[in-house]
Amino acid sequence: MGVLRVERSVRSGSSQSRYSQSRSSQANPAGERLRLEIAGLSSDGSGIARTDRGVVFVAGALPGELVEAELVKRRKDFALARTVSVVRPSPGRTAPRCSAFGQCGGCQLQHADYPLQLSLKAGLVRDAMTRLGGFAPELFENLECVPSPLPWGYRNKASFPVQSLRGRIVTGFYHAGSHRLIPIKTCPVNAAPLNALYGAVLKGLPSLPFGGYDETTHEGKLRHLVMRSGFHTGQTLLSFVLNGRLAAKSIKALVAVGAAGRPSTLTLNHNSRPGNVILGTHTEPLIGSGRIAERLDEWTLEFDTTSFFQVNTGQAEQLFRYAAEQVRGTDVLELYSGVGSLTCFLASRACGARVTAVEEWRSAVAMAERNMRANGLEARLLCARAEEAVGDLRGSYGTVVVDPPRDGCDRAVLEAIHAFRAPRVVYVSCNPATLARDARILAGHGYRLTSIRSFDMFPQTVHVETVAVLER
Ligand SMILES: C[S@@+](CC[C@H](N)C(=O)[O-])C[C@H]1O[C@@H](n2cnc3c(N)ncnc32)[C@H](O)[C@@H]1O
Repeated sequence: MGVLRVERSVRSGSSQSRYSQSRSSQANPAGERLRLEIAGLSSDGSGIARTDRGVVFVAGALPGELVEAELVKRRKDFALARTVSVVRPSPGRTAPRCSAFGQCGGCQLQHADYPLQLSLKAGLVRDAMTRLGGFAPELFENLECVPSPLPWGYRNKASFPVQSLRGRIVTGFYHAGSHRLIPIKTCPVNAAPLNALYGAVLKGLPSLPFGGYDETTHEGKLRHLVMRSGFHTGQTLLSFVLNGRLAAKSIKALVAVGAAGRPSTLTLNHNSRPGNVILGTHTEPLIGSGRIAERLDEWTLEFDTTSFFQVNTGQAEQLFRYAAEQVRGTDVLELYSGVGSLTCFLASRACGARVTAVEEWRSAVAMAERNMRANGLEARLLCARAEEAVGDLRGSYGTVVVDPPRDGCDRAVLEAIHAFRAPRVVYVSCNPATLARDARILAGHGYRLTSIRSFDMFPQTVHVETVAVLER
C-alpha cells in the first residue's frame, strides 16, 4: 500500500466523519462485518489492514490488533471501516481520557499509551521518508521520537468555532472531518489557563445580544474564540473572531463576557470572508496590548493574535535547542522565521550565528523585531515570501534553516538552497509527507540525509515534528 493512498484518504477528511457521511450517501457495503489484522497506522490515525480486496482503513484500531470491523464505504482502491470490537488488543492500548475522543477531530491517538504513541510517530516518519522520500530504511533504524515534557495539558493555543443551534449560541470543537459542532466543557490537552478562560467565556455566551456564525448563510456575528497562553508567564490572550462590525452596545457585552475570564489581553479579530480560515488580517486590542509573552529558555518572546507560535512550549524548547546545535558556519539563512523563536536560539552567543531571517507575515516580523531587541540579540529580519526573497539574497550561508508550514517548502526555495551551495540544511517539519518530498528533491541536488530526530510536539494526536539535517 502506498502512502500516497493514505494521503488521499486524509484529504477527503478523517475516517470518523467519513463513516457518518457514508451511511446516508451510499448504497453500500455498510454493515458488512470483517475480521481484520491491523498492519500499520495511516497518517490520519486509522489502522491499516490489507485484504485480498485491497486496503481497509479502520478507525479506532491500532497496529498489531485483530479487530471486528464494520465496513462503511468501499471505494475503487480502498475501503473505510470502523472498529466494532477489539478481538486481540495491542499491549499499548489504553482507555482514552476524554469523553469526546472518537468524535472530536482534535485527538486521534488517546487509545494508545504514550510509549506506543511515540513509536507510532517514529514509524510514520520512517514510512514517509522511505516510501515518499526514497531513502534507505537503514537510515531510520534508530529514529527516536523525543517525548513531550507534558503528554497532557500542553497546548498553549486553542480555537473554538461558534455557531447558533436552535437559537442558542454554542461552541466546542468540530467533529472529525466535518463542521458539526461537539459542545465541550474542557479539553485535557489544553493548558489549565486555557481551560479556565474557556470555562468563564462559555458561561457568558448565552447573554450575548447576537448569534453565532452560520457557514451556509454567512450570517451571525461571532465566528470563533481564539485563546493563547504563556506556559511560563501565565499570561493569556482571548480573541473574538467576528463576521462584520458590531454596534457599540454589542461590543460592550462581548468585552464583559471576555473580561470574566480575566485574560491578560482581549482582542477583536475581523474575518468576514467565507471559508475555513479562522483569523482575518485586522485585529484590534480592547483590553491590554494585544500581545502576550512567553519564555523559551532564557529568551522572552511576545506574540499577538495572528502570529504563529509553537503550541507546546516545553517541547519547542527541546526542539529549538537541538535544531540550533545542528547549525554549522557563521552565516545562517533562516526561512519561515515567525516571531523569531528559533532565531533567538540561532543568534544566541552559544550558537553564534549571523542570522538572516525571512518571514512573510508582517505582524510576526514586527514581533520578531521587538523580540530580538528585547533579548539583546541581532538578526537581519526580512518581511517577504521565502520563495521570492531567496531570488534576491546573495551571500554564502554555512547553514540554511527552514521551518515551513504543513505544505512544505516552495520548489523555488529548494532550488535556491541548491544554487547557494549551502553545505548544510536543517529542515524543521510538522508534516512527514512534505518533509519526505522536499528531502527527496534536495537529495536529487546532491544532499545526503545525515541525521533525523522527531519530537512529539502534539501528544494524543497523530501529528509529529521532525528535524532533518541534510549535507552536501
Ligand atoms: C511553522 S511556522 C514556524 C515559525 C518559527 N520557526 C517558529 O517555530 O516559531 C511557519 C512560519 O512561516 C510563515 N510562512 C508561511 N508561508 C511563508 C512563505 N511563503 N514565506 C515566508 N514565510 C512563510 C508563517 O507565517 C509562519 O510564521
